[in-house]
Amino acid sequence: MPELKIAPSLLSCDFARIGEEVRAIEAAGADLLHVDVMDAHFVPNLTIGPPVVKAIKSVATKPLDCHLMMTDPQRYVEAFAEAGADYLTIHIESNAPIGDTLADIRKHGVKPGLVVNPDTTIEAVKPWLDQIDMLLVMSVWPGFGGQKFIAKVLETVRAARQLAPELDIEIDGGINGETIHEAVKAGANVIVAGSYVFGGDYAERIKSLRVA
Ligand code: DX5
Ligand code: ZN
Repeated sequence: MPELKIAPSLLSCDFARIGEEVRAIEAAGADLLHVDVMDAHFVPNLTIGPPVVKAIKSVATKPLDCHLMMTDPQRYVEAFAEAGADYLTIHIESNAPIGDTLADIRKHGVKPGLVVNPDTTIEAVKPWLDQIDMLLVMSVWPGFGGQKFIAKVLETVRAARQLAPELDIEIDGGINGETIHEAVKAGANVIVAGSYVFGGDYAERIKSLRVA
C-alpha cells in the first residue's frame, strides 16, 4: 500500500487568515492541502475558485489537492492548473466527458483523479483506474464539512484497493481519531480531515491520524 498522507481540508480553516492557516497546518505536519471547490450547482454550497487557489499557492509548500465538486469541471481545468493546483479530482457523477477531462488535466501538468459519491460503486470508475493518480471515495455526501462518517463506503475503498494496490486512495468526510482506523484498514492512504484537524491542536490532531 502506498504511504499514508494527511490532507487537511482548508474548508474548515479561518478564511480571514488563510495564509497563516496554510503555514500553521504545514508546520503541524500536513502532507497535502485539500481544497474544496463547490459550484453551487453540483452541490448546494459555493466556496472557492481559482483566485483563492492562486493565493493559497503563493504561501503553500505542500501540493494542492483540489477537489472539484462541479457539474462541469472541464471548463475550469485550465484556470485551476494556472492557479497552481497539483491534483485535480473530478466527480464521476459530474457532466464531464471523463476520458477527455482526465487527459486535459494531465496535459496541463496536473495529476488527475476521480471522485465517487457514497452511493456510487467501484464499477463506475473501473474503466479509468489506469488513467488516474488518485481515487477519492466520499465518506459523506459532498457539500459541507462536519458531517458524520458513512461506514458503508468502506466497501468501495476495499474493492478499489484490491483492484489497484499501488493507487493513492483518498477518503474524505467525517474522518477523526476513531473513524481513521477503519478507513486505513480498508485501504485508504490519503486522509482528508477538516473539522477534526482544525478543531483542536493541529499538530496533535494530525499526529493522532498518523499513528492510526
Ligand atoms: C465535503 C468536503 C470535505 C470536507 C471534509 O464536501 O469534500 O473535504 O471539508 O470535512 P470534515 O472532515 O469536517 O468532514
Ligand atoms: Zn473534499
